[in-house]
Amino acid sequence: METVVLVIGANGQLGSVLTESLQQKYGNDNVIASDLRPKDTFEGIFEVIDATDRDRIQEIVVKYKVTQIYHLAAILSAKGEETPLRTWDINMKTLFNVLEVSRTQHIDKVFFPSSIAVFGEGAPLEQTPNNAYLDPATVYGISKAAGENWAQYYYLRYGLDVRSIRYPGVIGYQSLPGGGTTDYAVDVYHKAVLEEDFNCFLKEDATLPMIFMDDAIRATLEVMDAPKKDISIRTSYNIAGISFSPAEVVAEIRKLYPDFKVQYQPDFRQDIASRWPKTIDDSVAARDWRWKPEFDLEMITKTMVEKLREQYKTGSKNLETLLF
Ligand code: SER
Repeated sequence: METVVLVIGANGQLGSVLTESLQQKYGNDNVIASDLRPKDTFEGIFEVIDATDRDRIQEIVVKYKVTQIYHLAAILSAKGEETPLRTWDINMKTLFNVLEVSRTQHIDKVFFPSSIAVFGEGAPLEQTPNNAYLDPATVYGISKAAGENWAQYYYLRYGLDVRSIRYPGVIGYQSLPGGGTTDYAVDVYHKAVLEEDFNCFLKEDATLPMIFMDDAIRATLEVMDAPKKDISIRTSYNIAGISFSPAEVVAEIRKLYPDFKVQYQPDFRQDIASRWPKTIDDSVAARDWRWKPEFDLEMITKTMVEKLREQYKTGSKNLETLLF
């Protein structure tokens, strides 16, 4: 049977880039992009879906004979703290809707993104293992930790093939993040390329696990392509990219922009970051589906600067569109 993919949250940081990769893989006719609002410029099939509306998801699944769902809609860590109960409600309701529609419509595979935000003070900060104790301190992290367990529940109870990755902070030039604690690591490149000063909301030594967009997308496609028998983790896989602090990324940027000025003004997001791992042990993903990151900080910096320069030169991005 032909693969037909539904992406929920296709306008987001990961969703927009993943949608393009899925279009390349399966063809534009076999990828249904969806989000709360239509996209200005989009080539392919787009449907407006509010994922809190189960009937609407079901309608689209039936209409296009969808076989796989990538559920990328969520309120992220920093933004989520503004309205904790609403964040819980939205993050969980949308997941339950996806799981229930998938179960009843016999969807082949579901992708559910988790995050390093599932970890809290009970987990070691260095080389955090896949099976570390989870005591997240943000509502986003609690919703992801619960979501992982629900993903496993649907697999064990109903045989639904749900697969999941705990993403580190994702860095990309194609799209803008919104409401995350790791988002500084995207913003910093925009400011450098625009030759503006940068105000960092984390401390200069706040090391966090990060990953370049290309690696994040490849990991997603690889875990979804892996033979079912190799998927030994039904909660979520740790994946590592590279870990760095604000001071380290700034030092790398200064190799290209020696006058780049930075001020550190840590806010509540520093408290969130201080409970997250610094480095991740991804040996289970490496064993099960041969995960291996490719981009180091130097490659990320070179690529980000080059691509953003191009985009700003051609006017395809402007700072007003930054969400933070
Ligand atoms: N990048 C996300 C955030 O900062 C973590 O999943 O919220």
